[in-house]
Amino acid sequence: MSDQLPAQVVEDLLTAAVAAPSMHNTQPWRFEIEDHVVDIYLDGSRSLPAEDPTGRAMRIAAGAATFNLRCAAESLGYGAWFGLAPYPEEPDLLARIVLEPTAARNGELCDLAEYIPHRHTDRNPSDTTPLDETVRVALMRAAYAEGAELTWLGRDGVRTVLDLVLDTDLREIGDWHRRAERARWVGGDRAADGVPSSALGPRSVSYPAIVRDLATRPTDRSRAERKFEEHPDIAVLSTAFDEPSDQVTAGAALERVLLTATRAGVSASFLNQPLEFDDLRPRVQLLTGRPGHADMIIRFGHSRPHSGAARRPLAEFQAKEQS
Ligand SMILES: Cc1cc2nc3c(=O)[nH]c(=O)nc-3n(C[C@H](O)[C@H](O)[C@H](O)COP(=O)(O)O)c2cc1C
Repeated sequence: MSDQLPAQVVEDLLTAAVAAPSMHNTQPWRFEIEDHVVDIYLDGSRSLPAEDPTGRAMRIAAGAATFNLRCAAESLGYGAWFGLAPYPEEPDLLARIVLEPTAARNGELCDLAEYIPHRHTDRNPSDTTPLDETVRVALMRAAYAEGAELTWLGRDGVRTVLDLVLDTDLREIGDWHRRAERARWVGGDRAADGVPSSALGPRSVSYPAIVRDLATRPTDRSRAERKFEEHPDIAVLSTAFDEPSDQVTAGAALERVLLTATRAGVSASFLNQPLEFDDLRPRVQLLTGRPGHADMIIRFGHSRPHSGAARRPLAEFQAKEQS
C-alpha cells in the first residue's frame, strides 16, 4: 500500500503554503514531498541580491509558508512535527515537516487555517480607531507562541522609524541596483508573481509615508493620493538570535501574527526598508528596549476590502531545481 499523501491533501497543503507573504511576492520556495514528509527549500532563482543580499527575507518567507503548511495540515487531520534547518550541510533545506494522521488536533492552528486565503498585505489608509488592547495582546502572544517577540512602538518610536525610512529613501535615490531589481518585480498587471499595480495602494499625501511606496514605473508613481492615519499602530517583530533558523522562526511568527490579525479584522502592511541596511537594523531593535534582532516592521490598521497579489501555478513549486 502506498504511503503517499492523497493528491488532494498535497494540493491543499501547497495552496496554503504559497499563500504566505514573501518580499515582492517572489514566492522563493520549493517543496519536495516524499511519503508523509514535506521538505521546504529556498528557490535560489528567485532571490533579491540587491535588496536581500543575505537571503534573510527569503528565509522569513519560508518560515511563513511553513506555518501555513502546519495550519493546513492540522485542519486536514494531520499532526505536523517540524524541524528547522535540519541539515547544516544542506543550507537551502530550511524546514522539514512530518505529517501523521491524528485525532488530537491543534484547535488554534485549525482555526487560523481558515484565514489563510483572506490575509493580504493592505497598503490602504486605515481609519483612526486605535487597536483594541485585547488584540494587541493577542498579536504579542501569537509571536511569542512561535518563539519571537512583537513590541509595540510608542509615538517617539514611530517617529524614529519614519526618520529611518526617510534616510533609506534618500539612500535609494542613487542606488540603481535596488531600483532595477524592484522594477523587475513591482508594477503592471501580474498574473503569477510580483506585486501588481492594483496592490500598491494609494500614494500618501504626506511624507515620510507610513506605508512603503514600492512603485517604480511612471504610471504607478502618478496614482491617486490619499491621506493616511496620523498616528499609526506600528510594532517590531524580533528574534533573540539571527541564525538562518531564527529567521525561519521569525517568518512562522510573522504569519501567526498576521493570521491572528486577519481573524480579528485587523489589516497589516510593512515598513521594512530600514531593516535592509545593516547599520539601521540595530537602531530599529534599540527602539524595542530589548536585546535581539529586528525582522519586520509592521503597521496594523483596520481592514477594508482589498485585492492581493497572485501566486504561481502549484506545479512550479514542486519542480526540481535546475542545476
Ligand atoms: C520578509 C518580507 C518583507 C516584506 N517587506 C515589505 C515592505 O517593506 N513593504 C511592503 O509594502 N510589503 C512588504 N512585504 C509584503 C510583500 O510585498 C507581500 O507579502 C507580497 O507582495 C504578497 O502579497 P500578499 O501579502 O498580499 O499575499 C514583505 C513581505 C515579507 C515576507
